[in-house]
Amino acid sequence: NNYAVIMAGGIGSRFWPFSRTKYPKQFHDVLGTGATLIQQTVNRFKNICPPENIIIVTNKDYVGLVKEQLPFLQDHQILAEPIGRNTAPCLAYASYKILQRDKNANIVVAPSDHIILQEKEFENVIVEALQATEQADILITLGMKPTRPDTGYGYIQYIDEKKLRIKKVKTFTEKPALELAIKFIESGEFVWNAGIFIFNAQTIVDAIKKHLPEMDEVFTEGSGLYWTDKENDFINKAYSRCGNISIDYGIMEKSDNVYVMLADFGWSDLGTWKSLFENMPKNDDGNVIDGNVLTYDAKDTIIKTPKNKLVVVEGLEGYIVAEFDDVLMICRKENEQRVKDFVSDVKATQ
Ligand code: GDD
Ligand code: MG
Repeated sequence: NNYAVIMAGGIGSRFWPFSRTKYPKQFHDVLGTGATLIQQTVNRFKNICPPENIIIVTNKDYVGLVKEQLPFLQDHQILAEPIGRNTAPCLAYASYKILQRDKNANIVVAPSDHIILQEKEFENVIVEALQATEQADILITLGMKPTRPDTGYGYIQYIDEKKLRIKKVKTFTEKPALELAIKFIESGEFVWNAGIFIFNAQTIVDAIKKHLPEMDEVFTEGSGLYWTDKENDFINKAYSRCGNISIDYGIMEKSDNVYVMLADFGWSDLGTWKSLFENMPKNDDGNVIDGNVLTYDAKDTIIKTPKNKLVVVEGLEGYIVAEFDDVLMICRKENEQRVKDFVSDVKATQ
């Protein structure tokens, strides 16, 4: 029995001011396709699992947005976290809950902010991986061909058994420092972790028991409460006892039964302004414009501003110009990793 767990509790701080704590990027129609990122994500699983087996894990503040954008979901399919504790507790909550009801559950876990261009190929890959987890106690992740030493990704080195599409992972390094990322890329032996994971519910629960025993203790206490009207109360107390840690650092880096399935379906993480720039059509000057904008001698620049405001730009090259609500940000594209710092500085002054 297949389940899809969609992680949708991030605030997308590297995408500020477009992504705001009150309205993060997964709830926006970022690409202008008519569907928000979370709607596109859920839609990708329509032929993989029945709609009642789709679980969204998000912050309690976004439950209203989820219901509005995915009205077919029943309340028990939306898991509300009282506080953000990164992706490990999010995964633990969903897995312990699913396992309680369905001992044979196979789970695919996916972020809610990715672009996938070839949906049919995505479907084939996920179905093959789900089948593999039915037969073996393995944690599967999807490996993407890397194109640059990006420090925002996990890097996977694998044992290259040519005949097999699912390969044993040798090393998993989450968000390496730049020097290391450069070495990884130069060696040609690494792929990027797509952040999409596939396993059997029991296998992931066993991995949490082994590598995050405190978290196991917390979510095991909930057995018997999941799927009841006591679940919410339990979770509200449980979360403050969980460490703030991601699946990647908490489980994937430490487990020895991780396998990687190499895949190619036009994947990209819409994590930052640069990734949006790369995924949007450019005009003749190489600019990405979304708004009411006049440019003169501007190049290689992304401008995303409200339609009701005329914006005139002269001479900018390699910039991000973004206005949303009450914030206007102008930042060099090459320094986009600093956006995260702006957000924390702004928080500190308000
Ligand atoms: N429910 C919930 N709660 N979801 C969360 C939380 C949380 O506290 N924090 C993050 N998420 C969601 C985000 O909304 C996103 O959809 C997904 O989990 C992944 O989180 P990111 O914060 O975007 O992770 P990342 O991009 O830095 O790194 C991960 O993805 C990369 C590929 O895109 C890792 O898996 C990397 O190894 C990987 O390369
Ligand atoms: Mg991401």
